[in-house]
Amino acid sequence: MARLIGGIGSSHIPAIGNAIEKNAQSEPYWKPFFDGYKPVWKWLEKKKPDVAILVYNDHGLNFFLDKMPTFAMGAAPEYQNADEGWGLKPIDPIPGHPKMSWHLIDALVEDEFDLTICQEMLVDHGFTVPVSLMWPEPELRKHIKVIPLCVNVVQSPFPTARRCLKLGKAIGRAVASYEENLDVVILGTGGLSHQLDGARAGFINRDFDLEFLDKLKDEPEWLLQYSNYELAELTGTQGVEMIMWLIMRGALGKNVTEISRNYHIPISNTAAGVILFEKDA
Ligand code: DHB
Ligand code: FE
Repeated sequence: MARLIGGIGSSHIPAIGNAIEKNAQSEPYWKPFFDGYKPVWKWLEKKKPDVAILVYNDHGLNFFLDKMPTFAMGAAPEYQNADEGWGLKPIDPIPGHPKMSWHLIDALVEDEFDLTICQEMLVDHGFTVPVSLMWPEPELRKHIKVIPLCVNVVQSPFPTARRCLKLGKAIGRAVASYEENLDVVILGTGGLSHQLDGARAGFINRDFDLEFLDKLKDEPEWLLQYSNYELAELTGTQGVEMIMWLIMRGALGKNVTEISRNYHIPISNTAAGVILFEKDA
């Protein structure tokens, strides 16, 4: 049987990809950010998961405002990246795990989550930056297969935080019913508080982010008290991306151990966060 071994929440800011490419990790601007990933790299190196389910949002590369699925899962043998205008050099294609994708899609639709199925899917910085962050060297990334789960946090209406937490729980059940003996990690990406445009561009809410990180382990339901409009007010229009961390948390089940976390302001215009949970046996 496949088993979920842990989950990681992480920001996906494009500038991170540029910093990795330029090898700028130890520059004063970047050091406090990248140092927060050292425990994650150590954990991934030790656990060597076989598959990563990567929950992210597309920002207009694969889906645009004309056609916007609420939830879309990849079922492709590999995922291509492409230039999306952030000055990021496209990374090499990332191998998928179509057999496990189809199992997850079957199980989730059976569980009443009607996903869009993508046998071809371009992935943008929401996907590639977390991949480059978790496995910074192409060599480290060779063994891992990635299954993208794309969530609409771009074109209103978005799924509610409640729906995201429930979807996470359904993913937890779906992984547990997969027959092959594989170790799976789930990544919830995006956030934390940020607003990229408009009169409040640069808006960050440190208190809210820190409370969110505090509650995520034992009381993820805390976020459900807010509608997505309230979340945009409280965390910035792109801060809403943090609802995707609930999918990660929901998948891990009730009891988790927090291995590490880091919070750093700012990277670009964003409050950057990372948290690593291990699923209790
Ligand atoms: C930034 C953050 C994002 O989440 C994103 O998708 C694009 C840019 C930023 O802070 O620059
Ligand atoms: Fe984003």
